[in-house]
Amino acid sequence: MRSFAGRDILSLKDFERNEFFRVFEIAEELEPIARNRRNSDLLKEKTLVTAFYQPSTRTRLAHEAAMIRLGGQVTGFSDAKMTRAGDFYQESIKDTVKMLEFYGDVIVMRHFQQGAPHEAAKWASVPIINGGDGWGEHPTQILTDFYTVMREKGRIDGLNWLAVGDMRMRTMHSLAYGLTQFDCPITFVSPADQRLTDEMKADLKNYNLNFREVEHVEEAIADADVILVEPVVQPDYTKSRDERSGDVGLTPSNYKITRELLANKAKSDAILLHSLPRMDEIPADVDITRWSRYWQEAFNGVVMRMALLALVMGVTE
Ligand code: CP
Repeated sequence: MRSFAGRDILSLKDFERNEFFRVFEIAEELEPIARNRRNSDLLKEKTLVTAFYQPSTRTRLAHEAAMIRLGGQVTGFSDAKMTRAGDFYQESIKDTVKMLEFYGDVIVMRHFQQGAPHEAAKWASVPIINGGDGWGEHPTQILTDFYTVMREKGRIDGLNWLAVGDMRMRTMHSLAYGLTQFDCPITFVSPADQRLTDEMKADLKNYNLNFREVEHVEEAIADADVILVEPVVQPDYTKSRDERSGDVGLTPSNYKITRELLANKAKSDAILLHSLPRMDEIPADVDITRWSRYWQEAFNGVVMRMALLALVMGVTE
């Protein structure tokens, strides 16, 4: 298995099957630190730099929380407008990371341009973690989701997946690439203008992913062991910031998971994942049902980032 020490985490297309299991193993080892709300000193000599060119609640703060749980330090920015990249100078990714690499030992970057973290990785002498790039990928979120499935179901192989939402979303791309390493059929449900591109579908066929597309969640929910939902009422992820203006509309029933739908059609032991933020695609009254696992996902989001930071910093092989 390739070493994680010093490695960039940019895409799940790069991940080998045994590497997923290694990450899950380290996450499980470190999980008690977070569960007991303690901090350790595993990364006490290390600093995480957060470079966020787009808004985030979970990804940035979960990485920061993970670093703090491991005894490390955190610096960085969450609003690029207050840096030289976001003012008159429009400072390049290269020039920015050539500074940031001296301020810490690992950089987590979120950017509105697809491929920006890959560009950063070309220039940085420290590992770059992709915290979501445009309509590209969001590898740490899907590693979190896979870990959640491992913890909740005890396995990933052999489970049927249903993915509902905007297939242009970076999480959906990391999900599809990640599942190519497991024995998991997946059904995608999305509006016509939010489908996987033909290029992406050809790539997934090349990687032997067993997938199909249907029009309505009702056509596929009965077979699903894992239901992963994202909004279809979405901002434009290629913008640095997309404020809501006027009426953005409601989610059509084709892409909505309601309490009634779960009770009438879902397997009784299926699990429902949503990384959040959400619109109305999962109403709040679903939160208390036995299917929902999104608060466990939130906890696992910290644990997974602890594992990734420990691995890329080389304190555990
Ligand atoms: N799921 C996710 O990436 O959330 P944030 O945008 O809040 O980081």
